[in-house]
Amino acid sequence: MVGLPARGKSLISGKAMRYLAWVGIPARVFNVGTYRRQDTPHPNAAFFDPANKEGEKARRAAAEAAVSDMLRWFKEKNGTVAILDATNSTKARRRWIYETCKNAGIDTLFVESVCDNEEIIMHNILEVKTTSPDYVGLDPEVAAQDFRNRIRNYEKVYETIDEDEKQYTYVKLINVSSTVIINQIKDYLSSRLVYYLQNLHIKPRSIWLSRHGESEFNLTGKIGGDSNLSPRGEAYARALPALLKQSGIPKNAKITIWTSTLKRTIQTARHLAAETGYEKLEWKALDELDSGVCDSLTYEQIAERYPEDFAARDEDKYNYRYRGGESYRDVVIRLEPIIMELERSENVIIVTHQAVLRCIYAYFLNLPQDQSPWMQVPLHTLMKLTPRAYGTEEQRYKANIPAVSTWRAKGTSAKHQEYPAGLK
Ligand code: ATP
Ligand code: F6P
Repeated sequence: MVGLPARGKSLISGKAMRYLAWVGIPARVFNVGTYRRQDTPHPNAAFFDPANKEGEKARRAAAEAAVSDMLRWFKEKNGTVAILDATNSTKARRRWIYETCKNAGIDTLFVESVCDNEEIIMHNILEVKTTSPDYVGLDPEVAAQDFRNRIRNYEKVYETIDEDEKQYTYVKLINVSSTVIINQIKDYLSSRLVYYLQNLHIKPRSIWLSRHGESEFNLTGKIGGDSNLSPRGEAYARALPALLKQSGIPKNAKITIWTSTLKRTIQTARHLAAETGYEKLEWKALDELDSGVCDSLTYEQIAERYPEDFAARDEDKYNYRYRGGESYRDVVIRLEPIIMELERSENVIIVTHQAVLRCIYAYFLNLPQDQSPWMQVPLHTLMKLTPRAYGTEEQRYKANIPAVSTWRAKGTSAKHQEYPAGLK
């Protein structure tokens, strides 16, 4: 990363790491500030003055410790993408990083975040910097003033990436990607990453996730298929507009409704679209995990007819691919364009299916692959996800409409059950 303080570098690093982990690429952030804090936990702005020799020495030591851990991680843990989260704000520092990585056989991609919008910078300082561990116990106003002085100190030596560095692979994201400059991107992984970074925005918004209402297949315990809603599923479809409203919609917010191409999600979103006039989009990529030869069977029937497959799925649910169908890993790959589009979008409500919802949820909440396929996603429940500076806030709203549970615990072949009364 490259850029002055409060330019979103840590936020971008964290998101990139989450995205890479979600698509199965081992990635880790090395935050130089964390290393610096070990020796200098509460520095004031003077510590960052380029004329302060002691400060300069301590900051260089922190960068060296982070880079050395990073190199060790590549070597010993087979890491693929390390993100060095620091200002790296001078040409000399970047040359050192480039040469050190090159000598270790590691490619470098510099990602510079440039922002000259005073309003955004001030907002960033107030949103995240005044609560930084650097300023514990300090009056937020004093902290904000000190942070502004810290930025001024960095500005004295800051050199943006320019013509002199055109031999490097880099991307410059200017004013939250309203302009993007790309240089020397040559491989697939870098271009995917750059495309992802280009789509990020910081406008406040929420993403709502819901499964379709209870379906006829859910009632009989069958998986897959393209059945209609049950009468209770239809009741959920009618209740959805009020449930969405109850979850809190920002004034004048424009919301887009996304469904799969299967009848049960389209029927679930029907009343919402009609009552609100929100734009509606159908995505094939949101269709339920394809269970191949097991489609339209119950878990009991699968356990009986394909016992080895049934056990193999329990053993490694994320990677198990149904015969003639898909695995969770396959679903994540087909959902990648959905995630890209979601990053570009503002408010979206997605009405989809159990497995697909788990995958989307795993991206936002950073859920590990061995856990996400087992996550409980009850029917007739609306989830509201709100991205914040360093994470995603989650709220759940239950419609008061009973439904079966389609959740199956590891090692069981339970038919879909009514929820126990307490869980309704
Ligand atoms: P520091 O150098 O002090 O570690 P930083 O550059 O890592 O600062 P962050 O801690 O990531 O900055 O700042 C988070 C804030 O930046 C959030 O309020 C977020 O909304 C905002 N932000 C995210 N992306 C950008 C961007 N591309 N440009 C400007 N601000 C951004
Ligand atoms: O039972 C509902 C359902 O959406 C099925 O169509 C699908 O096969 C299943 O859930 C996915 O959940 P799991 O991966 O836990 O079997």
